[in-house]
Amino acid sequence: MQTEHVVRTFVEYFQERGHRRVAGSTLLPPPGDPVLFTTSGMHPLTPHLEGRPHPLGRRLVNTQRCLRTTDLDEVGDTTHLTVFEMLGTWSLGDYEGPQSLDWGYGLLTEGLGVDPGRLHATVFGGDDRTGPDLSSLELWQGLGVPVELTVEDNWWSNGPTGPCGPDSEIFLWTGDTPPRSTPTHDDRWVEVWNHVMMRHRRLDDGSLVPLPQRNVDTGLGLERLAALLQGRTSVFDCDVFAPWRRLVPTLWPLDEPSLRLVHDHLRSAVVVIGDGVRPAHTGRGYVLRRLVRRVLTLLWRGERSRSLGDLPDELLRHTLDHFRQDVDPDKVRRILLEEEGRFAGLLRRGRQVLARPRFRGPLGDGDFRYLHDTHGLPRDLVMSLRPE
Ligand code: SER
Repeated sequence: MQTEHVVRTFVEYFQERGHRRVAGSTLLPPPGDPVLFTTSGMHPLTPHLEGRPHPLGRRLVNTQRCLRTTDLDEVGDTTHLTVFEMLGTWSLGDYEGPQSLDWGYGLLTEGLGVDPGRLHATVFGGDDRTGPDLSSLELWQGLGVPVELTVEDNWWSNGPTGPCGPDSEIFLWTGDTPPRSTPTHDDRWVEVWNHVMMRHRRLDDGSLVPLPQRNVDTGLGLERLAALLQGRTSVFDCDVFAPWRRLVPTLWPLDEPSLRLVHDHLRSAVVVIGDGVRPAHTGRGYVLRRLVRRVLTLLWRGERSRSLGDLPDELLRHTLDHFRQDVDPDKVRRILLEEEGRFAGLLRRGRQVLARPRFRGPLGDGDFRYLHDTHGLPRDLVMSLRPE
């Protein structure tokens, strides 16, 4: 089952249940939003979760590209991506959580053919402010799906303040043996779909107040589910990475975790550039810069002559087409190459500076500050340039 087919099945299933499709936005949140990138499907809809009527009504469905840097250090494992697509549904003060979960179960099992015996749910077990989510618990028990109760893992928020609420997550068993244990005790249970009962707002002082309406916000990681439906456990083995899998290993023979990092970061960098971001030393541009430089650091560790200029055109085109970005691949390549040139220059200068007698011994905080402020050498780069 190809990714496109998963998207179509998902959207049509919810359209048949009264949802209208909202166009997904780019990775850039609307002006005035303090967050650098869109991190989930609900993000662009925040004003509507807080009570402003949505022009398309109270039941919405969409696909949204998202970027999460919180997971950056986990990229390279088999389930995390920096840029990914989220399929989402919303009830803006319309139906409640159990209805959402029931439809979620129906879509996964009947619509997408998942064996119900491979499902596990988690539900908010309650804390000193909010009681347990009994209606979700009862729904799952009625469907015969095993449930684990947790506290922190089943509370969703988009930041320290703002809309939040208890959630119920759906996990799929990926092991070779029959399902066993529970999601918090066995990571062969992989989370695929989060249903958030978004009905609270957290204020600056940490207290919770009810939102003007009781919403449900759900998000499903597309690449993760597609991989599982395609019989793979790694997101990097789903169809959207097929051209990367085919072309990159012959260009740059790397071990598997390194290949995953290169695929993730370069694909993310292409999308971010496609959405109009350029490398810079702050903000969004800095995230892009980090993605590109992490790849170069890894590539040059093996072979200094490797260059992003060698990236096959097909990979740039495939990624831009997939995200429907009307951008010339040559322009993307030029931006990547310019950043490569800047990084190479910085490394050259860095080596020269670090060869000075003053920096041969152990470095203190003052040295790192000087190297950063005067020579533009961040601490982690200094460490990677010094002999072991
Ligand atoms: N907002 C929730 C999430 O990002 C569900 O969409 O997981």
